[in-house]
Amino acid sequence: MLQALRGMKDILDENSKRYLYFVENCSRIAQNYGFSYIETPMLEETALFKRSVGESSDIVGKEMYQFTDKGGNDVCLRPEGTAGVVRAFIQQKFDRAKVQKKFFYYGPMFRYERPQKGRLREFHQFGVESFNQSNIQEDAVIILMLKDMLDFFGIGYKLELNSLGCSECMPTYREKLVNFLQNEEGICEDCKRRRDTNPIRVLDCKNQHCQDIYANAPLLLDNLCSACSEEFAELKSILDKFEVKYTINPKLVRGLDYYNKTAFEFVSDKIGAQSAIAGGGRYDKLVEYLNGKPTSGIGFAMGIERLMELIVMPESSKESYYVGALCPEASELCFKLAIDMRKTKKVNLNYDVKSLKNHLKIADKQGARYCVCIGEDELANDNAWIKDLRNKSDKTLSYGELLD
Ligand code: HAM
Repeated sequence: MLQALRGMKDILDENSKRYLYFVENCSRIAQNYGFSYIETPMLEETALFKRSVGESSDIVGKEMYQFTDKGGNDVCLRPEGTAGVVRAFIQQKFDRAKVQKKFFYYGPMFRYERPQKGRLREFHQFGVESFNQSNIQEDAVIILMLKDMLDFFGIGYKLELNSLGCSECMPTYREKLVNFLQNEEGICEDCKRRRDTNPIRVLDCKNQHCQDIYANAPLLLDNLCSACSEEFAELKSILDKFEVKYTINPKLVRGLDYYNKTAFEFVSDKIGAQSAIAGGGRYDKLVEYLNGKPTSGIGFAMGIERLMELIVMPESSKESYYVGALCPEASELCFKLAIDMRKTKKVNLNYDVKSLKNHLKIADKQGARYCVCIGEDELANDNAWIKDLRNKSDKTLSYGELLD
């Protein structure tokens, strides 16, 4: 039997209900915050991800779905959404116009990782990106919006926060860290490689022995310049005012290379080892890395599969209608009735003529609230019989009344 590829899943039935409920409500909340929808291609030039997500990241180093297309182009299925949105922003020359832009998006992302619970090779993200807004209040608003979304779905979380500094303070810190690492031969091979490519990435190494060593490593937060330090303090104070709980994690560095200043992750302790449900931060140099004019940026992305099982769905509103004919002559009218009712209502039509008892049974099985049937009597009187399956009452309504 043909099967979906390893690490890739169909979304259907209860999960597709959750998926739609999730993206519809996140889209609504994002629009309330002034974000508009953007859709970028799933396939992009490989160079885009190498230059943004970064050559030293696991994503680019090990996990890309990369191939040469029929035209000989080196292309790649997007492993994340930010790079494509930044590419589109520059392609539209929004960087030159210096406009503020706020986008939201959702859709599939591809990473060739080792599949396990909560870690897929094709997964879905809901993300936002905000350009040309360097005020620290925007960082707070981005976090508050994400919190609003998680609160709406009744999803509990812990927020971890860090600042990765800027081009003022980061180089000095990096030098300190490299010096520290130079004296530590016991670190793992991955960390030795990172020491030469992107040293701060060693800080979130999963190896316990490395972590024991890094307990004494210099911390970025102790080495921020005064501007970064003040901004970080302001961010914390806004979050405090809005009673957003967070913990400072000075080793939170994120797995993508483009971040500076604010970095954050929302984690859940209810979904197993892959606990990050959302992550994001500032990327004020990324537009320039991709040859755009200097433009600040900040955003986040949530992993929809990881959130899906945590969403508290509203009581299923059993408001749908079931329509069925009791005699062959009523079939045509039932067909027309269903089409007309669907302008305003959710209607399931049974094309087969059945007894009342059978129609009621099927309507109930399908989870309909109302069962509408037309037989010889109803046809003669130009009306229809309707039963409310929840409170068990029934009555006869005219065609017009049914449409109301
Ligand atoms: P990220 O942390 O790589 O950030 O991914 C965001 C979220 O996607 C994660 O927190 C996780 O929930 C989900 N996720 C990542 N990999 C997988 C996987 N293999 N299977 C299932 N879910 C996964 C980004 O992608 C950045 N683009 C976020 C961002 C936007 N930063 C600024 N703007």
